Amino acid sequence: MNIIVSGCAGFIGARVCEFLLERGDYVFGLDNMSDSYDVRLKHHRLKAFGEHERFAFFRCDISDNLQLLSVCEKIKNLSVGGSVDSVINLAACAGVRQSIENPWIYYSTNVTGTLNLLEFCRSEKVGKFVLASTSSVYGENKTPFSEDMKTDSQLSPYASSKKSAEGLCSVYNSLYGIDTSVLRYFTVYGPAGRPDMSVFRFIRWMDEGKEIAIFGDGEQKRDFTYVDDIAAGTVSAIRNLGFEIINLGSATSVSLNEIIDVMERRSGKKAKVEYHPPHPSDINVTLASIDKAKRLLDWTPGFDIEKGIENSFNWYDANMEFARSIEF
Ligand SMILES: NC(=O)c1ccc[n+]([C@@H]2O[C@H](COP(=O)([O-])OP(=O)(O)OC[C@H]3O[C@@H](n4cnc5c(N)ncnc54)[C@H](O)[C@@H]3O)[C@@H](O)[C@H]2O)c1
Repeated sequence: MNIIVSGCAGFIGARVCEFLLERGDYVFGLDNMSDSYDVRLKHHRLKAFGEHERFAFFRCDISDNLQLLSVCEKIKNLSVGGSVDSVINLAACAGVRQSIENPWIYYSTNVTGTLNLLEFCRSEKVGKFVLASTSSVYGENKTPFSEDMKTDSQLSPYASSKKSAEGLCSVYNSLYGIDTSVLRYFTVYGPAGRPDMSVFRFIRWMDEGKEIAIFGDGEQKRDFTYVDDIAAGTVSAIRNLGFEIINLGSATSVSLNEIIDVMERRSGKKAKVEYHPPHPSDINVTLASIDKAKRLLDWTPGFDIEKGIENSFNWYDANMEFARSIEF
């Protein structure tokens, strides 16, 4: 298949590209290489598959429609058969707290960018659209979060921009019949993870013997989901389902204090933890119901937290000089 993956240099996007290339697809990766965090990490991820013969990279801002259309024209000319089969939209401004500081950029990438890609799918009759959404759209719902719950009160511009993008997908499905899977990912972690997220930071701070900063008492729980499980679920979603919203999570909730315990066991080091006041955009507990993913995608997560943290440390150890130099 010919597949466009936006956000291909990102943490999840890079792994999705690798999974697609492994199964034999032609992958056209888009990324604007934004400075949302140390851009060298994006180059590092791209290096792993950027030279693959079935992969082509395009530096492109999905919120700029003219730029996107001109890149898509090039992609059509390069693709086998001259058309695109699926678009997986992983490009986003993704930090919850940062979205409070600059909400505009969150709306231009996450909403206008999604609209531009949907318009491309409409005009080119692309058969499948996959949107990366987030557990943050559930706000403070009761756990476990299931897809049929009301999601009309988000806690951050990031979450509300993703909710808007979901709405656009539903509109384009009902108006034009674009087959769409909206995937709500739950706190994704793993090797070469985002330096603005807890797992990367905690490993780095432990390595440096620095204090681990936690907002709240550390008892807030997250459904931590390993990146390979997320990539596998995303690839599974490239099938005809109509319009569906599907959670991808580990279905296990782990507190930040428990994560630190796991890290202490792995590293053999005692962590120094410094607790700060909680942040108002933080959800207290996230936990996914994954019955729908099991039923529709035949998907179950394969990594538990011990194995996932072990792999994250292994990446850090294997790339120590680089990992220590990442700015955040
Ligand atoms: N990591 C998580 O825990 C998590 C949880 C829920 C949802 N998600 C969603 O999954 C997707 C991937 O997240 P990630 O963790 O890999 O984040 P990431 O920041 O590592 O990846 C996003 C990529 O999109 C690119 N990008 C940003 N704006 C762009 C634009 N205007 N045009 C083109 N490219 C642009 C960035 O350069 C980056 O490489 C995002 O949509 C995010 O909202 C992530």
